[in-house]
Amino acid sequence: MNNESEELWKSSAEAELLAGRAEGFWNLDYFERVLLPLLDLPSGARVLDVGAGNGALTFLLARLRPDLELTGLDLTAELVSAGNEEAAKRELENVNFSQGDALSLPFEDGSFDAAVCQTLLVHLAEPGRAVREMSRVLRPGGSFMAAEFHIINIDFPIDSASPTPYDIGETARYAKLLLHGYRLSGQGDLQVGARVPFMAMEAGLEIIDCRINDRLAHGFIPYRRPSEQASLAEARSWVALFEDSGYRAWVETSMLAGGGTTEDVDEFLRLLPARSRDGFRSGDYSFVWLLNPVLTVTVARKPAPAPGTA
Ligand SMILES: C[S@@+](CC[C@H](N)C(=O)[O-])C[C@H]1O[C@@H](n2cnc3c(N)ncnc32)[C@H](O)[C@@H]1O
Repeated sequence: MNNESEELWKSSAEAELLAGRAEGFWNLDYFERVLLPLLDLPSGARVLDVGAGNGALTFLLARLRPDLELTGLDLTAELVSAGNEEAAKRELENVNFSQGDALSLPFEDGSFDAAVCQTLLVHLAEPGRAVREMSRVLRPGGSFMAAEFHIINIDFPIDSASPTPYDIGETARYAKLLLHGYRLSGQGDLQVGARVPFMAMEAGLEIIDCRINDRLAHGFIPYRRPSEQASLAEARSWVALFEDSGYRAWVETSMLAGGGTTEDVDEFLRLLPARSRDGFRSGDYSFVWLLNPVLTVTVARKPAPAPGTA
């Protein structure tokens, strides 16, 4: 993780965005009916959420499976404290957050029934090393899940005030500057998603399934459904993030490394707020937004030794 990313995780705009994910990152029916059965967690399973941030995935698991023993690990002290405060507020004694590095997990071999991560590997220069670490701390038969971005273009909302799509050539140019520059400046790989299954196999895991998140953010006045309210809250926190100096710093580092100019950075950061800021703030328009452009989900298992060979 380089300095720009480190600063970004400490920013309050980013923390707010991550906290909101507990409600709106997944369609609950998809997570509960499709992913949880694939994970096949036994009752009381010990689950490690690596790069947990302030706990979006940890708290989602705690809500759907209150029997789990959940540990969230993250490098950023501010997010670890926020996670522990939230766990105390919710009176959850089975949820704990601690500080540590995904590249050198501070746990014994085989100490968890499951190891999961959500948009962590995308930020690492050595994602394969983190996957090997996750495999190491799994017991034989333990489950692995990584939900990671594979960004193929940048997407902005279609809304009732401006229902025409963005020009794909324009957004593709920004995507190219960001994707290339992000890699070249050593921040990670915004297209790590489809590489994760290969990393998992290399780490000795058996692939159970590869999927994508089925979520499409949308809200139609008067935003009656809780899912629409979560989408609106998330859209508002994206607008706040676009105006945050930490976010600008990482966009700038990435785009300049990718061959862009400061004018490209200004124009890119202006695009979303120009079109949607007022509508999201006042909440008086309808929108549809592919907020998580291709979030790939890899589910795998650590092979258990054949009976009689242990
Ligand atoms: C986009 S956030 C995702 C947080 C959380 N998983 C979620 O979905 O809300 C990425 C997180 O990875 C953490 N991180 C980055 N590098 C890390 C490392 N080497 N070890 C542990 N955490 C790391 C950051 O501190 C940040 O909280």
